[in-house]
Parts: sequence; C-alpha cells; structure tokens
Amino acid sequence: MATMDPKNFSREIKCCSGPRRQAGRSELRVIICRDYEELSRRSASIIASMIRRKPNCVLGLATGSTPIGTYKELIRMHKEEGLDFSKVTTFNLDEYLGLPPDHPQSYHYFMWRNLFDHVNVDPSRVHIPNGLAKNLEKEGQAYEKTIKDAGGIDLQLLGLGRDGHIGFNEPSSSLGSRTRVKTLARETIRDNARFFGREEDVPRFALTMGVGTIMDARFILLLASGASKSQPLRATIEGPISAECTASVLQLHPRVTIIADEEAASRLKRREYYKYVEQKAQELGQDMFWFHM
Ligand code: F6R
Repeated sequence: MATMDPKNFSREIKCCSGPRRQAGRSELRVIICRDYEELSRRSASIIASMIRRKPNCVLGLATGSTPIGTYKELIRMHKEEGLDFSKVTTFNLDEYLGLPPDHPQSYHYFMWRNLFDHVNVDPSRVHIPNGLAKNLEKEGQAYEKTIKDAGGIDLQLLGLGRDGHIGFNEPSSSLGSRTRVKTLARETIRDNARFFGREEDVPRFALTMGVGTIMDARFILLLASGASKSQPLRATIEGPISAECTASVLQLHPRVTIIADEEAASRLKRREYYKYVEQKAQELGQDMFWFHM
C-alpha cells in the first residue's frame, strides 16, 4: 500500500483542489486559544501577516466587542514594529441606519476611535456604509461596486452574533445576499443595548454587507469569545448549513480560519480533534496562514 510522507500533505491537497479560482489549500481551520488575549494576538498576527505580504491589501473589518483586542494589538504593532497601513484599503461590514458618523455608537465613530485614529491609514481608503444615505438601495449597490473596483476583499474579519449572524445578516437572511438594509433581530437589539444604555435607543435597521458579499472575500477570519458564543459557534462549525445560522455558510468557503477562546469553544463536539489537528499542523511546520493574491 502506498504511504504518504506527512510533509507532503499540503502539496497533495493542492493537487486535488477544485476550480482555478480556488486553487491552493482549502481549509476550515479552528484555532482554540486559552483566553481573549491570546485570541486577539493570534488574529492580529494573521492580519499583520496579510498587510506585510500585500501592503496594498483590502481588509474587511468588523465592529463590536470581539475585535477590540485585535485592533489594540494592531495599533501596538504599528507603533512598535512599524506595521504600515498607508496603502491598505478597508471596508466595514455594516452601519446602523440613522446615526451620524460622529454619534458615539455609530460604527464610523467606533472604527476611528478603536483603530483608524491610531494607525497611518489613508482616510480616502477607508469605507464604511453610509447609514444616512437618502437612497439606501443605491448606497448598497454603490458599496458593492466600490469593493469590486478595489479588487475584492483579501481578508474579511468577522465577529459572531449570539443568533449566529455575520455582519447584520440575521437568521433567515438570504445566503446569497449583497449589501442592503436589514431589520435587526430582537436578540441583536437586546445584545447591543449594552452599548446604548437603553434598548429603545438601539436602531432597528442597519446597512450591511450580505452573506454573498462576505463569501466573496478570499480569506475569512471569524472570532468568537466567551460562553455566550458557544452555542452559535457550534452551529457555525458543526451544525447544518442553514440560514438559521448565517455563519454556518462559512463551511462552504475554501479558506476560513476560526479563532475561539476556550469558553466559546466549550460546546464544540470535536474540540479535542481541532486542538490535535493544530498541534499536528505545527509539528509539520505548515505555514500557519496562506494568502492567495
Ligand atoms: C459588527 C458585526 C456583528 C458583530 C456581532 C458580534 O460589525 O457585524 O456581526 O460582529 O454582532 O458582536 P460582539 O463582538 O459585540 O459580540
């Protein structure tokens, strides 16, 4: 019986890969970290690695509590290691409808306060959906065109909603959807009330990249932290692919890395297996991350 040298695994996978667009290693990688700090360091190092390999890369960015540690680490890398954002283009996933950019709970405000103000990003390369646009349908279409004109998203960073959403693609969203207005689910409104103080103040609508828009990114990095994400994370990785948990469609994407802390990973049926695979990948000296540009 023919045996295969484990060092050749990735080469083998390369040979077996499908369509030209997806040539190269295909993988849904699950990295389980001790805690939020380690998760943030690992995710920042992937993003930094993309920026170093492709200084003019296009990043898709997320807001919410989960990526804050990642952004802090990226800021540190910029200040201490000279990580250069000057040619990077960014597209944010979403924005609430009706909040002006200087509203402290707007995603414009969030991004400038938590990242852009502290790195040398070129403001003309920053894109965030305009939740004040008069014609929101046109705004969504224009956003899609701007992403396309920029060459598409190289790396899309995602958080995970408690209801399994990515962006604001709530359960029952079309899995082929593009940037458009979504009505927020009650659970999301309740969750996000922690930022606004009162549930009544949380906007009911958002302009968000669609599931299809997200799936077009060349590489996807999903972060999940804390026990409240354990159920949606399990549905994302081990559940059926379903619009009930829009993140589950990532199972169909050829290059996804999911980083979870122990709490978020606590309900994964194959948790020990994912850890074992990671350990083996390290032993084989496999490149942690691979970007096809
Ligand atoms: C944010 C976004 C949302 C959040 C998700 C998790 O731009 O699109 O999908 O990533 O709601 O939020 P946190 O990280 O606050 O738990």
